[in-house]
Order: sequence, then C-alpha cells, then structure tokens
Amino acid sequence: MILQPSGKSKKVEIDNSETVIKLENLTKKFGNLTAVNSINLEVHRGETIGLVGPNGAGKTTTIKMIAKILRPNSGRILIRTNSSDLQDLGKISRTLSQMGFLIDIPAFYNMTAYQLLRYFANLQNYPKDKIDQRIDELLERFKLSEWKFEQVKNFSKGMTQKIGIIQAIIHDPEIIILDEPQTGLDPLARVEIRKYIRELQSQGKTIFVASHMLYEISEVCDKIALINYGSIIGFDTVENLALKLKTSELDCELLKTINDSELSPLIDRLTEKLKPYLDKNLDPMISKIPVKYYPEQQGFKFFYDGRHESKGEILKILIKEFESDFTVISFTQPKTSQLERIYAEMVKDNDSKGKSKLNGGL
Ligand SMILES: Nc1ncnc2c1ncn2[C@@H]1O[C@H](COP(=O)(O)OP(=O)(O)OP(=O)(O)O)[C@@H](O)[C@H]1O
Ligand SMILES: [Mg+2]
Repeated sequence: MILQPSGKSKKVEIDNSETVIKLENLTKKFGNLTAVNSINLEVHRGETIGLVGPNGAGKTTTIKMIAKILRPNSGRILIRTNSSDLQDLGKISRTLSQMGFLIDIPAFYNMTAYQLLRYFANLQNYPKDKIDQRIDELLERFKLSEWKFEQVKNFSKGMTQKIGIIQAIIHDPEIIILDEPQTGLDPLARVEIRKYIRELQSQGKTIFVASHMLYEISEVCDKIALINYGSIIGFDTVENLALKLKTSELDCELLKTINDSELSPLIDRLTEKLKPYLDKNLDPMISKIPVKYYPEQQGFKFFYDGRHESKGEILKILIKEFESDFTVISFTQPKTSQLERIYAEMVKDNDSKGKSKLNGGL
C-alpha cells in the first residue's frame, strides 16, 4: 500500500500493485484483417497508461472491446473494480458503472449540455441528488458553464470533445478510458485536459488513454504501450523504452547566441572533445552530424551513445568549455523527441519484419 497525494491536502490510499485491467491474448478480426492481434497488457490501480500507435494500428478497436461495443474473436478482458475480484468482462451482462469511456468523436443528439449530462449520469446510476452539482462543477471546470442550456449539436468540435470527456467522467468512475481526448482541442484546452488528467491521477484513478499525440502522452502517462498493426511492440516507461534506442539526444541551452564566425570552429572543437561519448553509428536519417547548433533555441543538440556515464562526462566538458563565455543554462534529455524516435524506430522495425500481421498473418 502506498499513499498518493490527492488535490492539495487530502490523501487517497491506493494499492497500486493491484491489476485492474488485464488483456489476455485479445484478438479482433474484421474479415481477413486482424485489427488487434493477440495483445497482452496489464494496467495497475492508479496508473495512467498511454496506448500509442499510427492510424489504423488498433487503438480504437481495443478500446471498443473494453467498452463491450465490439466482441473479441478470441482472448479475454479482465476487469477489477473496488468492490470485486478480476472479472471476465465477457461474462458480465451489465455495463460496469465503475468505468467511463470517451470513444471516437462523440456524436450527440438534440439535447442541451445539461440534458445530455443528466441523461448519462442517470444511466450510470449517479446519486440523483448530487447530479446537478456534479454537472455544474464539471461544466465550470471545462469552461462550458455558459453553454449549459445550449444544444450540443451547435457546439464547436473542441466543445463537443470536452462534453465527451465530461460524459466519460460524470459518474466519477474509478477506471477512465479515453480515445484521443485531445482531438479538436486548441493548445490551451489541451493544457487544461492535461491538468485535469493529473487531478484524476492524484485522486488515484486508473486511466487508459489512446493517442497519437506523443507530447500529450509523454507528459501524463506512467507507461506507454506502443501498438502497430494490431500488436503491442513495446510496453514500458518512456525512460525504459528509451534505453532500447541506439542513439540518445541531449539539449544544452546557452545564455548567449553564438556568432556565425565562431560557430564552425566551435562545433569542430566540441565534436573532437566529446568524441568518445558521441554516437559513432549515427543514423543519417536522424542526423548527419552528432553536434548541431540551433540558433533559435540558443543551444546545441548532441547525439550521444545513451550511456549514463557519457552524459556526465559531456556535461563536465560543456560546463568547462562555456564557463568564460556563453554559460550553460540548461542541460536536458528531451522526452518528446525521445518518444518520437522510439516510436519511429520501433514502428519501422516492426514494418520491416513484414506486414504479415496484416491480413490475419497470411
Ligand atoms: N468496423 C470495422 N470494420 C472493418 N474494419 C475495421 C472496423 N473498425 C476498424 N477497422 C480496421 O481495423 C484497423 C484498426 O482500426 P482502429 O480504428 O482500431 O485504429 P486506430 O489505431 O484507432 O487508428 P486511428 O489513430 O486512426 O484512430 C484499421 O485497419 C481499420 O480500418
Ligand atoms: Mg482510433
């Protein structure tokens, strides 16, 4: 048992070793196409898992099976809510009110935001006397209060998406499953959603989110499941997935800009000094040179061999090199571009192993 912070001062006690979602050899075929190919995945209580993959990889199909919209051809989905042991979803006739779903772009009928959310809250047996307060809180939270009595069909795409997210959590479920929650949202709204996901995390909720927005995913998820052609090709933390990369990146920001005339000899000198730690087999598709300067960021990017020791040595050399002039003001390993590369490398690797997984392994 661990204590996880919730909100500002409250603490929620959660057992995060407990498996709450377990996918066992889950398979879905549409005719000859194997959309989801025998996937295995375990999600523990309180975890946020990102399901990441290109268009058509099988994310929505997986989520639709968990939501019981689609029936698997083979394999099982096991779910544990607070009050139960792991149960085979295929054997439960009712829908579980402990789960909340946002699937695809929601299409809503002729209802106002209030009517619609009330309808979903009732459907999920949310206590009747608390519904109105819950709706008001969530509309306020998502900046939609003034639209409460407007027809949802007249909402913009982003507003509709927000209503979809509210609908998924209206009954305060323990397990929240979101398919592309960021679709149609402007950058500020995306920040809001990320903040809200963090709030849900601090309340101990278990969250499963499918997306191809790598930045959004890397910001909020504990672990990432990479899916391609219906198969899980990696499932780990971003940091652990990154260890499988042959090359890693480091960004070093300087206080001052380097002039054009100084740049070329400086890059040569840095390349020479950092030589033992730089990537010796750098893929030209990633970069042709291991030391690159980005004037707009006032900094360098280094492609190094990914070893922890090398990172330390590189930092020592850079601090010394720039101590009298430019001054190092930050030294970081960019998470998003790492994830982009993990994604690109793994997907590429998986593609080259053949698309035999397509068309049911024919
Ligand atoms: N009802 C269906 N009938 C036939 N094929 C389907 C059906 N639903 C999905 N597919 C196919 O299954 C594969 C997986 O689709 P899915 O919607 O799960 O992908 P996705 O990972 O969610 O993609 P995206 O990022 O575009 O949302 C695709 O090749 C898709 O064409
Ligand atoms: Mg999808």
